[in-house]
Amino acid sequence: MDKIQPWELFCFDEVTSTNDKAKELCREGGHFYVVSARKQTKGRGRRGHHWISQEGNLFCSLAFEFSLQDLGAIVLLTSLSLLQTITSYDQNAEVTLKWPNDVLLNKAKISGILIEKAEQDYWIIGIGVNIKQAPELTDCTYKATSLMDHEIDTSAPIFLQKFLHTFTKNIDMWHTAGFASVKNSWLSHAPDLGRTIKVRLENQNVEGVFTDIDNNGFLLLKTNTGVITITAGEIFTDR
Ligand code: BTN
Repeated sequence: MDKIQPWELFCFDEVTSTNDKAKELCREGGHFYVVSARKQTKGRGRRGHHWISQEGNLFCSLAFEFSLQDLGAIVLLTSLSLLQTITSYDQNAEVTLKWPNDVLLNKAKISGILIEKAEQDYWIIGIGVNIKQAPELTDCTYKATSLMDHEIDTSAPIFLQKFLHTFTKNIDMWHTAGFASVKNSWLSHAPDLGRTIKVRLENQNVEGVFTDIDNNGFLLLKTNTGVITITAGEIFTDR
């Protein structure tokens, strides 16, 4: 993908979903867009879930062009940049990464990432961060938390600025140092690496040791019958 140009920021009071607004902007072509909103009336999560959009939290979407072969790196870079933004507030915060793109603070969900395809080569990276409040999650394997719960008192706009700075720097790092350095940084924050995990696939669960991530960002799981590549799924652990 191209070197990142300055982000063009659009702030709204209320939208259905920032991903929808970002998709509309892509039709104009040619920019690195960021859409943020104070409220979302139809926030979307992964696997068709609703994303509860509480006041004071961050709802934003980045829109830019890249090819499908870069998707794996960009997914890893997004969650890694969220982790680094959180630790920039508190070096001692226990922030970890869970494949494919969850960021956990003290083992609870602090953010969500929803990637959607837009027109031509545009992709939308939708990001929600629990800044002030944590919703009660009924459809998730773990609890949610907020930065405020951990005495990190910031605002959505300030968090977004810091995140964009970190994300841009990390994209540059990927261009100069390559995918392996992105992957190794990501894996260094993934406590599941090397452990036996259960993964829920669409129609079944599989169990094995999380051995690596491949060049597409897919999870490599060593099972009794050999190493399998997991392209989509949800990890379960007993921790
Ligand atoms: C998940 O299920 O973990 C992903 C949640 C992604 C939520 C964000 S909030 C901003 C953007 N707009 C949406 O409708 N969803 C994403």
